[in-house]
Amino acid sequence: MSHIHIAIDGPAGAGKSTVAKVIAQKLNITYIDTGAMYRALTLKIIQSKVKFEDIDRIIEVCKGTSIELDNNRVILDDVDVTEKIREPIVNSNVSLIAKVPEVRKILVEIQRQTAQGKSVVMDGRDIGTYVLPNAPYKFYLTAAISERAQRRYLELKNKGFNIGLKEIEDEIAQRDKIDQERSISPLKPAQDAIIINTTSKTIKQVVEEIIDFIYRG
Ligand code: DC
Repeated sequence: MSHIHIAIDGPAGAGKSTVAKVIAQKLNITYIDTGAMYRALTLKIIQSKVKFEDIDRIIEVCKGTSIELDNNRVILDDVDVTEKIREPIVNSNVSLIAKVPEVRKILVEIQRQTAQGKSVVMDGRDIGTYVLPNAPYKFYLTAAISERAQRRYLELKNKGFNIGLKEIEDEIAQRDKIDQERSISPLKPAQDAIIINTTSKTIKQVVEEIIDFIYRG
């Protein structure tokens, strides 16, 4: 197979990153977690105590930030922030940073460059619609919000965060709303995306569905 680009989009907690990582491993191709880039920038904005309303400053910080994805580790200005970017404070603020058009322009450029000339599976919100519109394989993963919240609840609990299920469900609903309603490249399935509802499906089942489709196509 020559270079292949696989786009996986969908709302928070639909299983995108877990599935994308397994697919990358199975096909021996690069995994690019675009959400991690928005998360890393959000962490820096929080640490720098920049106000979320101060768009000019946010853009300035973005321009002076280095974000690298290295073997599934996330490196922000030479510091490994892989675990830190999954903390609740980042979860609840990342969509506010990701809706800034100038921020998206800068990060999308990096994402496209990273995918150039190699096979990748890239996950996010706008990969099939905007970042890699010519990707031959596009998937849109979704799941009932109750199940998505449950997955996040267990994930956070395992990391020692004690946050209620209802609070997580509300935060996910709020994040989906901002992601879907933003003016630039909002979360939606590409017209040519295969939609997969992952509710009650295992990771293995979803991975097999996607790989079957790729080999059939
Ligand atoms: O996939 P995730 O939960 O790590 O993404 C975090 C946030 O980043 C998500 O709420 C919206 C934003 N995001 C985006 O706007 N575009 C992408 N391609 C990926 C993520």
